[in-house]
Amino acid sequence: MLSLTSKLLIMKLFKEIPSPSEHIEISKANNAKWFTWSDEILNKGKIIESEAQKYGPPDEIAFQTIDNARTYSVDIKRINPVALKLIKEISEAFNKLMLKDELFFFDKIISEYFSSEAFRFLLSSIRAVLCTRRSDNMGSLYPPLSTAKPNNTFPIHCDFYIPTQLWNIFDEVPEGNQGTSLLLPVDVLLNKVIKSIPNFPQEKAAHVKNLFKDKVVNNDHAYYDLFSTLHNKENWWVNDISREIDKYVITLKLNRGQGYMVNDRKWLHGRGYTADEVTIKRLHRLLF
Ligand SMILES: [Fe+2]
Repeated sequence: MLSLTSKLLIMKLFKEIPSPSEHIEISKANNAKWFTWSDEILNKGKIIESEAQKYGPPDEIAFQTIDNARTYSVDIKRINPVALKLIKEISEAFNKLMLKDELFFFDKIISEYFSSEAFRFLLSSIRAVLCTRRSDNMGSLYPPLSTAKPNNTFPIHCDFYIPTQLWNIFDEVPEGNQGTSLLLPVDVLLNKVIKSIPNFPQEKAAHVKNLFKDKVVNNDHAYYDLFSTLHNKENWWVNDISREIDKYVITLKLNRGQGYMVNDRKWLHGRGYTADEVTIKRLHRLLF
């Protein structure tokens, strides 16, 4: 069987690159690989770039069925056939991409060769193509980010959207070592963090475990359920949980154009303290 890395390379979307020097140790310790766009995609990037300029900013869609659920998208019918053919090829590769425990990092996804506008247009287009292909309006999502005032953190969580694959690429990030990315394997949460807390209610532990097994039909339920279990101060165990998480959590600062791809049911993610406000363009995320 082909490894996921081989598949990823064969898909021709990305090429493997060495870890940036400041992240070598973390990457080695977690068996994490780094990728950037393949030369083929970079060469064809101009097609996406000019189509993005013609289209303008992506559309924003609100779902009637679920409160607060929104996504960026595009109207495929407005895309010229050459660009659409390329976008469909790229989307097909994403359709086949299914991470299990892997942790993939990315660099230079947004760069002087691939603008933030082109990237936003591409993600919106992939979302639209995958939804059509899957006959499911929530089969892929590019949800707008929740903004936040200065002096904030976002403790680790799973998004629990219906699609399980999460690709986060950073854009407007604060300077310096603030607003770091936090990552923790679900396996470590269940089998090390929670188990290390004496008297943690057994039925609660079983309930948390089940959240990862259930098929998600409405992301709100599982997301809030896990988040409040881990972080709601009314629970006597949250300080213990937080202390144990700190022992295992991967912390690294990812800058503009960098990011990660994980299976959202296998990895928790979050944001470390930032003194600056979180803008809507801090990161772009594709659920697929
Ligand atoms: Fe999230």
